[in-house]
Amino acid sequence: MKIATVIGGRPQYIKAAVLSPRLRTCAREVLIDTGQHYDEFLSRVFYEGLQIPLPDYHLQVGSATHGVQTGHMLAALDPILQQEHPDWVIVYGDTNSTLAGAIAASKLNIPVAHIEAGLRSFNRKMPEEINRVVTDHVSSKLYCPNQEAVNNLTREGITQGVKLVGDLMDVLIDQTPDDREFLDRLSLWGKSYALATVHRAETTDDKELLQGVLQAFAELPWPVVIPLHPRTRSRIEEFSLESWLSREGIYVIEPVGYREMITLERHAQAVLTDSGGVQREACHLGVPTYILRNETEWTELVVRGQAVLTGVRYEDIIAAIGQGHWDPGPRPEDLDPVNCIIKDLQRGN
Ligand code: UD1
Ligand code: UDP
Repeated sequence: MKIATVIGGRPQYIKAAVLSPRLRTCAREVLIDTGQHYDEFLSRVFYEGLQIPLPDYHLQVGSATHGVQTGHMLAALDPILQQEHPDWVIVYGDTNSTLAGAIAASKLNIPVAHIEAGLRSFNRKMPEEINRVVTDHVSSKLYCPNQEAVNNLTREGITQGVKLVGDLMDVLIDQTPDDREFLDRLSLWGKSYALATVHRAETTDDKELLQGVLQAFAELPWPVVIPLHPRTRSRIEEFSLESWLSREGIYVIEPVGYREMITLERHAQAVLTDSGGVQREACHLGVPTYILRNETEWTELVVRGQAVLTGVRYEDIIAAIGQGHWDPGPRPEDLDPVNCIIKDLQRGN
């Protein structure tokens, strides 16, 4: 079996780090990195820290508008997939790299396996929602992280090739050791700080919303550590909001490697985030989680009481944190996504 895996952004490096080593015990994997993320802290740090094999192809598309970026990926993927002619193309999640991999493969009649299929925010203004919907509709294998994702696909008429496998990210969190030295280097200790990440276009592209989020961070009852995504940094500069980053109690750091991030999450008093991956991880680790969005694809976290959906406006974030009671139920049992996916791919179409 020959598999081409298309990755290109931070969360995809992390997911590939879980599946690729096992995949390579029973298949030949051709790894294609689109180059959507190129900063050292968004890409190289994961290749090194998670021992991801170097890509066979690096497309070096870099940043651009959605259409241009996705178009460059498609143009570069087409000849590679024709030449390699894999049995499957694997794509992860919901980025422009996911969409490009899925469209390039399906146009060549190469079956697509989508990992993290079926998630929906029901907000078509999110670029990720478009990417998910289109990718799911051209995929032959749809590996869902939870039952709700399966239900979403059923509602859209997709029932063939759908499988509930669980979330790959759960596997990696549990295998990741603490990096206490890293906490020491930042002069942090357990439960003395909150951790915050924000990078979604719908928040960071709006000056008023972004300022409100930064103001809410400055008024938290804990000091807050912010590994700042380059998109957010550039919007803060563009909107001249830099002064919020030097407020007392705000500690801005560069984005960190996976092990460091899990350590920061594990020891935080609270996690505030608009990231899909970070909200899942923080809940998995049992840390009070505030989702800085109006809706989430991971509604089960809110229903179970593991996370609170705060909205993105300053007043709403402050009100949600002020309520502050926390009583999450027991964590559901983990599935075995790696084995489920590999066995299913081996069974064929
Ligand atoms: C992308 C994904 C998002 C995912 C996130 C993970 C899409 C539409 N969005 O968002 O779903 O949650 O990755 O982190 O695919 N930039 C840099 N250095 C880099 C990469 C980006 O400075 O290495 C800056 C550039 O100014 C760029 C901006 O970030 O224009 C946005 O980058 P892009 O890859 O388009 O989207 P993300 O916001 O990173
Ligand atoms: N992450 C990381 N370092 C950071 C911020 C996030 O390693 O500085 C990890 C995080 O632990 C999670 C993943 O990146 O596994 C989430 O990626 P991101 O928030 O960029 O994207 P999303 O999950 O929202 O698509």
